[in-house]
Amino acid sequence: MKYICYRFTFKNLQKRGVYVTIFYMRMRKKSHLEERMSACADIVKIADGGKNMKLSALIPDLLPLGSIFGNDNPVHLEIGCGKGKFVCETAKLYPGVNFIAVEKISNVLVEALEHAKAENLRNVYFLNCAAEVLQKYFEEESISRIYLNFSNPLPKEGYKKQRLTHPVFLNRYSTFLKRGGEIVQKTDDRDFYLFSLESYKSCGYKITYICEDLAANPVEGDVETEHEKLFKERGKPIYRIVAVRQ
Ligand SMILES: C[S@@+](CC[C@H](N)C(=O)[O-])C[C@H]1O[C@@H](n2cnc3c(N)ncnc32)[C@H](O)[C@@H]1O
Repeated sequence: MKYICYRFTFKNLQKRGVYVTIFYMRMRKKSHLEERMSACADIVKIADGGKNMKLSALIPDLLPLGSIFGNDNPVHLEIGCGKGKFVCETAKLYPGVNFIAVEKISNVLVEALEHAKAENLRNVYFLNCAAEVLQKYFEEESISRIYLNFSNPLPKEGYKKQRLTHPVFLNRYSTFLKRGGEIVQKTDDRDFYLFSLESYKSCGYKITYICEDLAANPVEGDVETEHEKLFKERGKPIYRIVAVRQ
């Protein structure tokens, strides 16, 4: 992965004889990103990019699932799909299911779009938006399953509310996840796994499956994600939870 390295020096501190230099890394913008995204316009909806996310979330912009997929098969949603290996391989395994994959960073999403295009997958559609506004795109009870694969664990207390399994998010998902529909989560982070279990229970979800070492207990039809491969190579156990909306 290519990164750009930025260097900042705080001039006001420098005047006082204090020299502070902070380095921070960010992913280099992919070449021809806009053109590459445009070439995939038929399989992606790009969020309008409004600055006020809270306000944007309130304005419905329902996805016409029937016309996108041309059928009324069940719809599964992956939130934070990264480069799309999981959703593309899972969609190939399950042609009778429609998949929507959400990713907020277009620089990452573009690889998922090109993967789906190259495979000519008809049952995958992408949404370039933040999970914070998802409820505006889906009707009540329109989604049968949500996948949360290696969501950022955000261990710092101050970022707790941004974890994708925080009750704020679970209540948001409940606006479009069917009753009896499930959230399937995988993570390598034990604290995040324990936090998520508590969160599901506190929001009335029923835990129907728990695994603390997926490599030792493989699940048929469960596809390995990009991050899962990396963590397995480092010998980390993978946790898996299935939580059902009551
Ligand atoms: C650690 S990566 C995991 C990627 C992939 N699921 C995997 O398992 O390889 C987490 C991904 O979730 C995306 N993400 C994080 N927070 C998000 C949010 N609030 N809304 C949408 N995507 C988000 C990140 O941009 C990143 O691509």
